[in-house]
Amino acid sequence: MSRPLRLGVNIDHVATIRNARGGVFPDPVRAARLAEAAGADGITAHLREDRRHISDLDITRLVCDLALPLNLEMAATGEMLAIALRHKPHAACIVPEKREERTTEGGLDVIGNRAALEPVVGRLGDAGVRVSLFVEPVPAHLEAARAHGAPVDDLHTGAYCEAEGAAREAELARLVAAAAAAEDLGLECHAGHGLTYDTVGPVAAVGTVVELNIGHFLVGEAIFVGLEASIRRMRALMDEARGA
Ligand code: PXP
Repeated sequence: MSRPLRLGVNIDHVATIRNARGGVFPDPVRAARLAEAAGADGITAHLREDRRHISDLDITRLVCDLALPLNLEMAATGEMLAIALRHKPHAACIVPEKREERTTEGGLDVIGNRAALEPVVGRLGDAGVRVSLFVEPVPAHLEAARAHGAPVDDLHTGAYCEAEGAAREAELARLVAAAAAAEDLGLECHAGHGLTYDTVGPVAAVGTVVELNIGHFLVGEAIFVGLEASIRRMRALMDEARGA
């Protein structure tokens, strides 16, 4: 059965552009308000250890000033846990983080990392934060996510987006199988990373995926058509693929 599909707009790269000059323009909170007007259901922001884009002040403002729910992307560290528990965002997505990476390169090591992940999932869940784990589309990783107590998995779509031709079809098949495994395990299934107008349709068509988080492409496209228009078009493509 097909469920409503939410769009979470990731505003990290509005902050990347701001930070290139070190001032206050463009403002990620203004982008979040525009995203709401354009049909986003939520805002996602990744507070990285090195604060390369979103800042602590951005998170405070997003929590205090926004009507839309905030999904805080964070590494499973003591520092980030303390920040998340202080702000209690609607949701937190636990991601792996390496200082030297350009973006989140792969899913979490959910199998080898139980000791670090389980307490973070537990503390956030106890505080009323909806927790997701960002994982590769592999059924064993979904089983591990569930075993760690996460109610939501977030499937990494990066390999699917980067592949071409038959390889992309194979990556899509992995995503479809992972979404089915998530459903069987009783996990709410989200997906994202690297999605564009060209790649969003087949993922949006997977009826058990209920949220897509998309950022870099939308901010890049906004240079040409404006942020509201880029989000509206993405939203329309998602709805079309979903048959909504
Ligand atoms: N989902 C997760 C868990 C991510 O880490 C990211 C990137 O921050 C995204 C979605 C959005 O990816 P993109 O910016 O490539 O659309």
